[in-house]
Order: sequence, then structure tokens, then C-alpha cells
Amino acid sequence: MYLDGGSKLGGQLLEEFGGGYYHLNPKHNQYSLCNNLLKAVLLFAMITLTGLVLFRAPESPFQLSRSIYSSLAFSSSPVYNSRSCAADSVSKISEELWLKQVLERSAMPNKTVIITTLNEAWIEQDSIFDLFLESFTIGKETYPLLRHLVVIALDPKAFYRCSALQLNCYFLGTEGINFSNEAHFMTPDYLKMMWRRIDFLRNVLELGYNFVFTDADIMWFRNPFLHFYTDDTDFQIACDHFGGNPDDLNNAPNGGFKYVKSNSRTIEFYKLWYKSREVFPGKHDQDVLNNIKHNPYLKRIGLKIKFLDTAFFGGFCQPSKDLNLVTTMHANCCAGLDNKINDLTILLDDWQEYLALPDHIREDKPPSWSVPQKCGPASFGSHTPRRKNIGGKR
Ligand SMILES: *[C@@H]1O[C@H](CO)[C@@H](O)[C@H](O)[C@H]1NC(C)=O
Ligand SMILES: *[C@@H]1O[C@H](CO)[C@@H](O)[C@H](O)[C@H]1NC(C)=O
Repeated sequence: MYLDGGSKLGGQLLEEFGGGYYHLNPKHNQYSLCNNLLKAVLLFAMITLTGLVLFRAPESPFQLSRSIYSSLAFSSSPVYNSRSCAADSVSKISEELWLKQVLERSAMPNKTVIITTLNEAWIEQDSIFDLFLESFTIGKETYPLLRHLVVIALDPKAFYRCSALQLNCYFLGTEGINFSNEAHFMTPDYLKMMWRRIDFLRNVLELGYNFVFTDADIMWFRNPFLHFYTDDTDFQIACDHFGGNPDDLNNAPNGGFKYVKSNSRTIEFYKLWYKSREVFPGKHDQDVLNNIKHNPYLKRIGLKIKFLDTAFFGGFCQPSKDLNLVTTMHANCCAGLDNKINDLTILLDDWQEYLALPDHIREDKPPSWSVPQKCGPASFGSHTPRRKNIGGKR
């Protein structure tokens, strides 16, 4: 029944596409997203909304309406037309409205959401994103958390993939990005998208939502809410290297995983973070965070930062050694998408093997990870960059 509704919407969408999709802006010589796309994505949001009902059925984790997806499969050569984007300001308002709706329907009762960003490179078959979702299904008590996941698609293909999976999706356009271009790590386009993300998260905080931000190359094995600091910490962040003291600003944070509560302090902090990109041009958000974490302004506004222990929130830089404690594992300290996929696949296998052990062995003598293998120091310098390797190194 819901599928039928979806197919009908899909049919309408197809017609929308007939009218063109991208708009060539002669002034800036770049594509800007238009209200046609907006209409399309809003329709998609509705599909996703109906999909949510399906999604909640326990026996159909990611029951796809494959027919919808394939009928809408995104053409690799976008259609250009010369129609003008008249209603830009209207679009802005609709975008905000749409964001509010997505947040509202995804949030826990206490207005907390889980946010990840997705781009084209991470959605291919057997990709990072598939592994990410798989971790939720094989993790302990992580599956129900998917209901609270909001996927921020950074390009149209990622948006379609997300919609087809019937997750909660939002499209975050970045002005001046040519989606047919390759967006390699640390290229201007890549940086633009990363900074857009910081600004977007500030917006989420301003709308009153707390969030866990997670990169999609982080595997969720246990419910992280059971291991966050429960005091009045405003901003908790995972680490590449954790020195043992959660309050020590010299810990090496990794922006790929953080739990941020919405309040005036965190909003001010995100404003400062975003603004600091001008002070440190050409730098990644994480490098800038390392530069501003000592800023006296943060003390003045009273922001409480804590660093998460890698015993729970680990990664390939510093693994969570004890599988009885591990909550998340990040494919950090890893260059190359193929290396990441290789080692994350093994990581998930390790976890499955651990789960299959008899209770007493699992509790008394848990095995350790057999990764990193291709990740870690060996991956730097050895790998040949792949196409669209955005986010390949973190
Ligand atoms: C966008 O990128 C593609 C591929 O590099 C290129 O062929 C095309 O001309 C670019 N379009 C614009 C408007 O810059
Ligand atoms: C929101 O609810 C979750 C689940 O009950 C809880 O673990 C988390 O700490 C709460 N977050 C806030 C900010 O209160």
C-alpha cells in the first residue's frame, strides 16, 4: 500500500525530471540547484516519510522499493536547461521547513538526532555506507537508533541512494560546487563542503536539536549514549589519540564523531569555529578545531569540552582493544577508500566472530581485532588516489 503510493510519487518525479534538472548559471559559469530539484527532493522527502512506516517493520530492515530507485536511477549526464531559478528565497524558506520536518520526525523525544553526511564516493555497492548501515544491524542495541539517523546528502546521487534506502534524508546543497567534478580530499570543493557541514550543524543546534555527528566510516557496535559523559558537558568529541584525561585539551580530537548539546554556548562555539576558517584559510575543520580549542573565548562563554576515551570510541589510530567495551570504531589513520573498505569489512567480520563466541570466552578472554591491515601508517604513501576519493583520508 505504501509502496504503491511511493510509485505514484515516483511517476510524478520522473515528469519533473523531464523538465530539466540542473541550471547553468552563465554569470558564475557553474551549476546552481534550482526549484525543480527542490520540488523533486521535497517529493522524495514525502516518499521517505511514508517509507518510515515500512522501515519500522522489524522484518524489513532496509526493505527497498527497488522499482522506485531503479526507475529514478540518476543519470550520470545531467540534463541542462536554461530555465531560470526564480524563487531562490522561497527555496531557502522551504529548505528550512524541510529541515525542521526531517529533524522533527527523526529525533528522540528529547530532541536528539544522529547525523551523518554522505557523498557519491561512499555509496557505491559494497561501499562505506553499506558497511556503516550493516554495523547498526549487527551492533548491540544499535538497530533502533537508525530511526534517529538523519543522512545529509552532499550531492544528488547520495540523496537518491539515501531515499531509496528509506532513511531520513536531507539534501544540503553547496553553492558553486560542480557535482560532475571530482572532489578530492583537501581540494577547494572538498573544503567548501566540509565547512558547509559545520555551518549546517550550527543551524541544527539553533533549531534546538542535540546531535551525535558520525562520519559514515565509523562502525557502531554498541549504543554510544550509554558511554557518553552524563555530566553537564556541552561538546564531547572522539579522539585519534586519547591521553587518558578527558579534560585535557591536548588530546588529539577527531571531528568525525561528536555529541553536542544544543545551547547558547555550543551555538557560539560553532559560530566561532565556522568563522575561524577565514583566519586559517585552506585548512580542514579539524585542523582549525585544534587551533581554536585553546581560544580564551571558549572559556569566557563557558563551553565545557570533553574528549571521549578510545577504549570506547576507538579507531585505527588507537583501537578500542577490549571488544567487551568497544562502542564505535573509526577508519581513521587510513588513506584510500579501498583500504578503508578492506579493513572495515574485516572489522565487521571480527565483530561477528566475537558475537558468535560462547559467553564465557567472550567475557573472560575476548579476542582482539585483526585490523588495521591496509589502513594505518602503511596506507599513507602506498595508495593511488581513486576517482572521487572525497574524504578518503581522515
Ligand atoms: C563541471 O565539471 C565537468 C567535469 O570536470 C566539466 O566537463 C564541466 O564543464 C564543468 N562545468 C562547469 C559549468 O564548470
Ligand atoms: C536523549 O535520550 C537518550 C535516550 O534515552 C539519552 O541517552 C540521551 O542522553 C538524551 N540526551 C539528552 C541531551 O538529554
